[in-house]
Parts: sequence; C-alpha cells; structure tokens
Amino acid sequence: MAKHDLDSNYLDPDYEPVVNHSGNSAFQDVLAARMQRRTLMKGGVGAALASIMGFGIAGCGSDSDSDDRSNGGNGSAGPGEGSATELGFAAIPVSSANKVVVPAGYSTKAFLPWGTPITGSYPAFRADASNSGADQEQQVGMHHDGLHFFPIDFKTGGNSSDEGLLVMNHEYINQAALHPDGPTYNANGMRPADEVRKEVAAHGVSVVHIKKDSTGDWDIVFGSPFNRRVTGNTEMDIRGPLRGYQKLSTRFSKNGTQTRGTLNNCSMGPTPWGTYLAAEENWHGYFANSSQTKPREQTRHGVGGASRYDWELAEGGDDQYVRFNITPTAQSAEDDYRNEANTYGYMVEIDPFTPESKPQKRTALGRFGHEGVIFAPVEEGKPVVCYSGDDSRFEYIYKFVSSRPYYAATASGYLLDEGTLYVARYNEDGSGDWLPLSLDDAGFAASVEAAQGSLVGNVQFDGFENQADVLLNTRLAADIAGATPMDRPEWGAVDPNTGEVYFTLTNNSRRTEEQVNAANPRAENRTGHIIRWREGGDDFAASEFQWDIFVFAGEQGTETVVDGDVAVSLTDDNIFNSPDGLWFDYNGRLWIQTDGSDAPPYQNNMMLAANPETRDIRRFFVGPQGCEVTGVVTTPDVKTMFVNIQHPARDWPFGNEGDHPRDATVIVVRDDKGVIGA
Ligand code: FEO
Ligand code: CA
Ligand code: CA
Ligand code: CA
Repeated sequence: MAKHDLDSNYLDPDYEPVVNHSGNSAFQDVLAARMQRRTLMKGGVGAALASIMGFGIAGCGSDSDSDDRSNGGNGSAGPGEGSATELGFAAIPVSSANKVVVPAGYSTKAFLPWGTPITGSYPAFRADASNSGADQEQQVGMHHDGLHFFPIDFKTGGNSSDEGLLVMNHEYINQAALHPDGPTYNANGMRPADEVRKEVAAHGVSVVHIKKDSTGDWDIVFGSPFNRRVTGNTEMDIRGPLRGYQKLSTRFSKNGTQTRGTLNNCSMGPTPWGTYLAAEENWHGYFANSSQTKPREQTRHGVGGASRYDWELAEGGDDQYVRFNITPTAQSAEDDYRNEANTYGYMVEIDPFTPESKPQKRTALGRFGHEGVIFAPVEEGKPVVCYSGDDSRFEYIYKFVSSRPYYAATASGYLLDEGTLYVARYNEDGSGDWLPLSLDDAGFAASVEAAQGSLVGNVQFDGFENQADVLLNTRLAADIAGATPMDRPEWGAVDPNTGEVYFTLTNNSRRTEEQVNAANPRAENRTGHIIRWREGGDDFAASEFQWDIFVFAGEQGTETVVDGDVAVSLTDDNIFNSPDGLWFDYNGRLWIQTDGSDAPPYQNNMMLAANPETRDIRRFFVGPQGCEVTGVVTTPDVKTMFVNIQHPARDWPFGNEGDHPRDATVIVVRDDKGVIGA
C-alpha cells in the first residue's frame, strides 16, 4: 500500500500504525546466531548496509529438478515455448518518463481504465469525473491491483489464450480524482450521499469478459452475462468457523451469517477450482469508533476514532452507510454496528463463472490485513494448502491446510471452511516451523493458558472464548504462538518447477537494530527483500521448512551473498526497492513488481523478471510517474501479459482528463508474438 501523495489519507505516516507491540523473537539468540550466518548482504554504494546479513541454506537451491506436481493454481499452465526460465530480453534502464517503458521488441497498450463501462446500461466515462454513483456501479473501479485471467473454457478443461474472464481488485480510491472537485461536505459536515455511493462502488472487484479480435487486439465482450461489479456494498455470506459467531452479529445480520461489501482488496489468489479470492487488506481505516476503549479485535488492527473517507457521514442516514460508524449506540450488538468491522479482514471467494453467485468470506483463513493468497499446487487426495501474508509492520506470514482432501471432480470453496491455520516462525539456523493456531493443539493451548492475564503487546489478554474467537483475533493468536514479526509481507508465489514458496517483504523503516532477526536482518529496512522456503519433504502440508533469502533489494552494489559467493550484485539493470507484487508465470519465470520510493536512483516504479535458478534479475517494465506497478498475469500461452498501473500521478496515456488520472491495465505483447520474457 503506497502512501502516495495523491491521497491525503496516506500523508499520515501513522495510517498504517505499528499495532504489533508483542516483540516476538528470540532476541537472546540473535547474537549467537549471527556468528553462524552464511548468507550475507553487502551494502550498495553509499548505503549503510555493509554488515547486514541473511541466511543461506543447503538443499533449498538451484538444482531445479522439475517434478511432476500438477499446477493447480489456475488450471491453465501449459508451458509456452520451452520450459526454461532463462531471460531472453535486454534489461531496460530506470525511467522517470510519464509513460510505460518495455524492452525493444515489445509493445504495450492501456486497457480497462477506471470508469470503463462494463455492465447494465454501459454509461460512458466522463472525463470531468461527473459520473454518478449509479454509473460507477456499472463501470470499472479505481486503483487497480491484483488480477487474474481465467480461460473462458476453464470449466471444460480448456486453456484458451484468446478469450477469458479478467478479474481484478480495486484497492482504494483517490477521492480528489473520483469527483469533479474532490470530496465535499455540506454545512452540517455531512457528505452528499451520491458521492459516498460512488466511492463505495469504485472499490471492490471487476469481472470483465474479454476476447481477442481478428487483429489480435483485446476487446470487452459487451453484454456478456459474466461482466460484473462486486463493490463495497455487495451482499456476502460469512463462511467457516466465524459464521454465526455472536461477535459478528449486526443489525443487518443478527445471527452473524452475512455482511455487505468487500474493501481495500489488494492482491488475490485464483483457486484450483476456478474461483477468485480477493484479499481485504487495510479495512480497518474504513470504520470509525469514537469510544474511549475499543475491543481487541479493533485495537490490534488500528481502528481509530475517524474513518478514512467519512462514509458514515452520508446524508440521509442510509443503513448501508451508517454501518461504518462502529461506535456502540444501542443496547445490544443486534441493534447497531459495533461488530461490523468483525465482518472484514478476510479472503473473499468470488466465482466469476457464476455471475449470480454470492461472494463468500472464508474465515478459516484468518482475519488480518490480508495482502493476498497463493495456493500450492494441488494433488488428488491431499489437503489444499495456501499462504497469506499480513502486510503491516512486524506482522506475520500464514499457511492454511484444509482438513478435507482435494479431489478435482468435487473441489469447491467448502474446502476452505475446515482446516488448520498456521503462522510462520523463521529460526536463526535457516529452519522454520509452522505453528498451529488451534485450541485443539496442545502446544498452542498451553501458550494460550500461559498468556492468560498478561499483556500481549497492547492487549490485556483474558483468553479466547473458542476457536472462532482465536480466528477473529488471528494476530493476537500469532503473537501468543511466537511467530516471527516480518518486514511487511506482501505477495507470495510458488515456483511451479521446484515448489519453493517466495514472499516479498516490502520494507520496514521502523525496525531497530534490537529488533532484527535472521529472516528480517536489516534495521531500518527501507528497500525490502524476498524470502523463500521449501517445505519439509516437499510436502506443502509439512510442519517445518527450510528458508533462505532470494535477494536483498537496494541500489547498485547491493549484494546477496550465499555461502561466501556473491549470488546477486545489483546493477543499473536491476536496482529496485520495495518489492510488492510477485508472480511465477506458467514457465517458472518470476515477476517482481515495486511499490516504493520513486526518487533516484530507482525513479518510477517497475517490474523485473527473475530466473529463480540463477537469480538473474532484469528490469522489464517501468510505469508512468507516481504510480505503483501492481498485479500481473498472462494468458496460459504466456504471450499476452496484463499489468496493472495503480494511482498514476497524472495523465497517461489517455490525455485530456485534467485532474483525473486513470488507473488502468497495461497489455504487453511481443512484436513477434513470442513468449513474454523468453
Ligand atoms: Fe495493498 Fe500491501 O499493498
Ligand atoms: Ca497500492
Ligand atoms: Ca505495497
Ligand atoms: Ca501490495
């Protein structure tokens, strides 16, 4: 989540407050462990990074023996021309131009900008941003983020690269750009209801049926029944252990089984059965609670006294807006919205192939600041496994393992409703453990018992009512379990050739020398790094793993040293900072997107490609000014790539929009119609 200056809400450096004060990590072991370090990061030119290190590990490396695990991530995955992961293009330099730059031999085209009509009466976008709330409900939302391409014939086992459903998240909004003159308030301090309606509608998810025409250009299939908007006001079911829990009871759903809307959808994950999970990341900011004391399920997330966009102040007092005021006002939770924020913080399943389907909040995957989710390849008869990072400073990385086995013929979202949620502990010796957050686990139950009556971070801990309460307070449970606090986990990706799991750790300028650990070895980590691990016995459901650091981001000369050898030394071809988006394409090339400082030497945010075997990393794409480059996917043949541009600073490439720059998807193709990156 970039704190970009287009959005005044992000000017507040405490918008993402440090809310984990639990101080997890075996500090007493740090010094001893650092004596044994084997993977080393050396500082770049002028950087104060010279003696900061990570770990290398044996057996987690470059002998990429391609095994035959099926790629369940999306059901497509036919390798393109050759399965090699070598990079076949020349790196491009950094750029500060207000346009997209790609290597020679590639072309780009902007597609599906904010405001593009996709449903209903297809209301045309107005360049002065004067479209109504009702219009926005039929148009592509704002601030494009994670996206996925589902081949149109997925359900019949097909692999189309010519037609499909492009599904994307709209993370948040730029209020100044969304309206002709920015957000307004009347004399009473209330907001015009239609402005609020438009803001809610500019959030959520777009499903767009797209098809290549005879000239190879991609078009929207107008009138397709698949075209759909899910917004901050779409009705949804609560599923899994929190369904019906009394702490989810609201005036809208007294029995705690339903809610409205999904918000701050950052990244996502396609499921093995062809649905789309949208993450709810910084949802806490949408709610206001003016009470002096707030419950732990709010304080551990930073819910404040005022909301980010003041939706609860919409004129007319419509129930769909007053729910954002979560201050208790009635006698009971069934008569107000004190629990509304407890219906947010989940992964939300949307079935793009069933347009009338109701989205499902899958609570077994935990409640936190979900950046996204990444599924491990599935195997018949084995559990479904997926990983999700909590993008906030000093938060954690989680893994869900389903109770029930996967069978392709019957798989669906029910598999995500029963299982065990684990949190990661990265040990100093390069090993790691998955710690179960389950009261049925004797170790976790003992830790909970031991923590009773003590201060856990800023929470006076008085126990968990039941497993639903554990999941409602996932962060607190992870504190108690002893998880490793990370430098803001963003996207994850699983190498289709080796099964190794990669995660970006975007940055954490607040980590002190005393707070470093082996997996997050830099104090004041301003540029971030990428961690990876291999599950024990190559079993994704394993309870232990081996990890190392794939690359440290930074300026020229930043070295990642493995067992005494320089594995990567960043140059003009690949300096980057604040890795965020991360995706393995169907051939196994790794795509790294940035959401960082756009000052020199990095300039505009970018996307790089990496060969995971050799750690060859090359800059492939640079976005326009002020943007974040986030969200990448290709067609199954890896010949059309879709990349999202979020919060561009000014007009690109549309022009004539004055003060209303438009987020958009960029289509990248090779001029010779070859495989991207090869
Ligand atoms: Fe929405 Fe963590 O980026
Ligand atoms: Ca963002
Ligand atoms: Ca980010
Ligand atoms: Ca992100």
